[in-house]
Amino acid sequence: MTTATRRYDGIGVETGDDAAFDDIASLRRAVDERIDQLLSGSPHDQLTRAMRSSALSAGKRMRPLLLMLVARDLGCNSPALIDVACAVELVHAASLILDDLPCMDDASLRRGKPAIHIQYGEDVAILASVALLSRAFGVLSQAQDIAPATRARLVATLAQTVGDQGLVRGQFEELHGGARSPEAIATTNELKTGLLLGVAVDMACIVCHADEQVAQQLRAFALAAGQAFQIKDDFLDGAGNDSAVTGKDTGKDVGKATLINTLGRDEAQRRLAACLVEADRCLSAAVGAHGRTRRFVSGLFAKEGKGKRFTPELAKARELHPGAQLAELRLS
Ligand code: IPE
Ligand code: IPE
Ligand code: MG
Ligand code: MG
Ligand code: MG
Repeated sequence: MTTATRRYDGIGVETGDDAAFDDIASLRRAVDERIDQLLSGSPHDQLTRAMRSSALSAGKRMRPLLLMLVARDLGCNSPALIDVACAVELVHAASLILDDLPCMDDASLRRGKPAIHIQYGEDVAILASVALLSRAFGVLSQAQDIAPATRARLVATLAQTVGDQGLVRGQFEELHGGARSPEAIATTNELKTGLLLGVAVDMACIVCHADEQVAQQLRAFALAAGQAFQIKDDFLDGAGNDSAVTGKDTGKDVGKATLINTLGRDEAQRRLAACLVEADRCLSAAVGAHGRTRRFVSGLFAKEGKGKRFTPELAKARELHPGAQLAELRLS
């Protein structure tokens, strides 16, 4: 039995008993319940089980929560938000199935369980991924309480994010891009990871009819947070991390063109910190400094250790004093 504290589901990363934490926890439950409903219609065969296992296993639900929290910070509580948020999470789940396949990262552990292709076989895994993706667009196209033109815009926005100019392009570059400059790697990271965070806030802005300038600041926030997040994820792959804690394999990035492998740990950590400062600047400019989203992002980038929470101020300090213990940031 392991004594490691699992951190891959994002639950219990920070302790908190205030309204913001209650709100985040109840949104998370609502997302899981809705995904459960959305995926319960089909016969309970291997395909459905693979889809459900992928989408309902212990992840952080970062993208749907971001969408819902940004909407809250915009003062919007449309009943349509939950399905839009779930659609983004279904896309994410589909992308993780493919990412773990032997022909991609060849990973065996995901969210603390055997990867979907290990549980169900590669054939079922590929089909489950395609089915989750199709389901995501089906959910969006039927979302209630949204004007048809807005729904069409949501579908188009998500399609563009996933396809050959988006996440799929990023995954292709990762596999076939070879050794390349840090800027080219950052572009790959934006495509494979940042755009899905970007589309979560874009969709919140579309549903909530946000002011264009606010929407642009929020997108810039999400893209900067996405850069920080992928660097942090890359740190998790390295030596010293425990799969029982991270819920996934380590050592999958050996020989890959990651920012850590290209720039070294310290420079990558400085980039991570700088991206968080930028993310916070854009978020605060868009919705102020005291919103739910800021609290959530701060929790995601929390330092390990009781009562210590990552703050942009800390990031700034680390940027100014690179000799400090930069490796102490861990992924929640
Ligand atoms: C993992 O994303 C894939 C990356 C983009 C790095 P998450 O770390 O959000 O995975 P879950 O959903 O919490 O499992
Ligand atoms: C994957 O990045 C990004 C996706 C589009 C799924 P990684 O390959 O680093 O994600 P993990 O580490 O397997 O979760
Ligand atoms: Mg990958
Ligand atoms: Mg991977
Ligand atoms: Mg990774």
